[in-house]
Amino acid sequence: MKRTHYCGELNLKNVNQKVILCGWVHTRRDHGGVIFIDLRDREGIVQVVFRPEEKDLFIRAEKIRSEYVLQIEGNVSSRPDGTKNPKLPTGEVEIIVEKMEILNTSEVPPFEISSFSVAGEELRLKYRYLDLRRKKLKDNLIIRHKLSHTVRKLLSGEGFIEIETPFLTKSTPEGARDFLVPSRLNPGTFYALPQSPQLFKQILMVSGVDRYFQVVRCFRDEDLRADRQPEFTQIDIEMSFVDEEDVIATVEKLLSVLMRDILGVEIKTPFARMDYEYAINTYGTDKPDLRYRDVMKITDVSAVVAGSGFKIFSEAVKAGGCVKCVSVPPAVDGKAGFSRSAIDELTKFATGLGAKGLAWLNNSSPIKRFFSDGEIKNIYSVIGYNREGTQPDPAAPMVFFIADKKETANAVLGALRTEIINRLKIKPVLEYEFVWVVNFPLFEWSEEEKRFVSMHHPFTQPVDEKMLDGDLSKVAARAYDIVLNGTELGGGSIRIHRTDLQEKIFSILKISGSEAKDRFGFLLEALKFGAPPHGGIALGFDRLCAILCGEESIRDVIAFPKTQKGICPLTGAPDAVSSKQLKELSIEVKDGEK
Ligand code: AMO
Ligand code: AMP
Repeated sequence: MKRTHYCGELNLKNVNQKVILCGWVHTRRDHGGVIFIDLRDREGIVQVVFRPEEKDLFIRAEKIRSEYVLQIEGNVSSRPDGTKNPKLPTGEVEIIVEKMEILNTSEVPPFEISSFSVAGEELRLKYRYLDLRRKKLKDNLIIRHKLSHTVRKLLSGEGFIEIETPFLTKSTPEGARDFLVPSRLNPGTFYALPQSPQLFKQILMVSGVDRYFQVVRCFRDEDLRADRQPEFTQIDIEMSFVDEEDVIATVEKLLSVLMRDILGVEIKTPFARMDYEYAINTYGTDKPDLRYRDVMKITDVSAVVAGSGFKIFSEAVKAGGCVKCVSVPPAVDGKAGFSRSAIDELTKFATGLGAKGLAWLNNSSPIKRFFSDGEIKNIYSVIGYNREGTQPDPAAPMVFFIADKKETANAVLGALRTEIINRLKIKPVLEYEFVWVVNFPLFEWSEEEKRFVSMHHPFTQPVDEKMLDGDLSKVAARAYDIVLNGTELGGGSIRIHRTDLQEKIFSILKISGSEAKDRFGFLLEALKFGAPPHGGIALGFDRLCAILCGEESIRDVIAFPKTQKGICPLTGAPDAVSSKQLKELSIEVKDGEK
């Protein structure tokens, strides 16, 4: 090795030792004839000092610029009092340089690495290797590594075996578009990159593998967001001879150990559970953020406003809709309350999500005059606030209402809850809140396709098979989602292990016999040969990393992520290919397209 120590590991214990370090020039400062360089490597930064007495060395040091790669040899010394830097783990020592070699020079970087200067994401991703020199991103990658290492260790210890499943495969239905790969050897045919290993892991259960896991890349061609990448990683798990409780217990153990080992946070098990229906009605989403506990739960006030003089409300109820609301206590809202412009912005936010408007009630609300004192008192009482008298009450909460179809009211108020929590920077009660969302419906009606579609995927077992002959919207699924801080971390289910039931589900989903055979024939076939009862789950590994690293976007925990448009600015992928390649693949690209 060219070095004896990492820069970041030196401290008072190393004083008087001779060390050799290799790293990048983080910053260079010239101070009254002394040159200070902060030398950086993977483990941190240490100050190295060039003294003018060492003339040759000093002259060479003057040529050093940011991001040059150096090897230095020198003596660790305790920094004089008054020059110690308590912010730096190595801040009590410095290296007095005796030898220095410039291993490589560097052009001026397009953005500063030493300070988190605001560089656009395109630029950061184009020069990702420089971006990754930053401590925070590097630390994220280290945490990611620790996480996958711990997952593998823990699951292996629980009798799970990691098995790789193919990337060049057939379409698996997880609700997104497939990435397709043309087959040269079989012109006109395509592999699909897996949206998940779902079918293979089920088939491994038929093989008798019993307990499978894989930290696995999945591919989905969908619209990208902060928590979605076209390729992402799952911790994929499948188990035989189990029910929901076994899968849930396995995941709770896994997640609580990860939280303890990586963050030092103790999470109590079992985690809370919430019915899907309750989550939707109370938080407007199936991924409720429970860190804020009761703050701004959604309440139905239809009954108390149905007969009111405010037509928007009474008519919405008459038309079969509802009036629902969220309330913001003044302690949170602050003395000034919501300004008119804030209310206008929130109204725009709500209408942007499909609401017809946003009604609000406080002491100066214009809609107040449409309600009797009794009605106002009742509204407050339904939301759990006991209002005294009819005079303006400074302690009364601000209430926001949506009158609409139940689905719209829930969705808009759920989003409004998050928006207001973020705007007012409301402090969470707890830093990490896990919750299982259970009792999902098996199907949901697709207006677009005019048929029922699977809420999760078509391999999920119904709670009660007999219900499949009745109202399909009432059939419950043996499915569960794990939610952390308002993010869907993972989802899974107990699977169908009988061919007849699987075929019945396909027919309900209007997947014809021949289509089912064509797409999933291999699974239907496998189920005929003694498939054991089985179930499992997949956790979004990038999302877990992002939350554990305190990042908003999973892009900050992926070494080489894609932009919102699915582009890799570093490599320029996706890119055009040569006409020779296209010809070999029997593919023609339309004129005018790349
Ligand atoms: P599901 O489709 O819910 O289930 O995916 C499981 C988890 O994977 C993560 N995830 C993503 N993360 C980043 N970018 C994406 N584009 C993306 N899509 C999904 C989410 C999600 O909860 N086969 C089933 C699992 C099973 O039933 O066992 C499946 O893939 O955190
Ligand atoms: P308008 O009578 O249209 O001026 O509306 C009076 C108030 O009710 C405004 O604050 C609107 O934003 C609000 N509003 C209109 N339609 C709805 C609705 N469907 N639900 C909730 N508030 C609404």
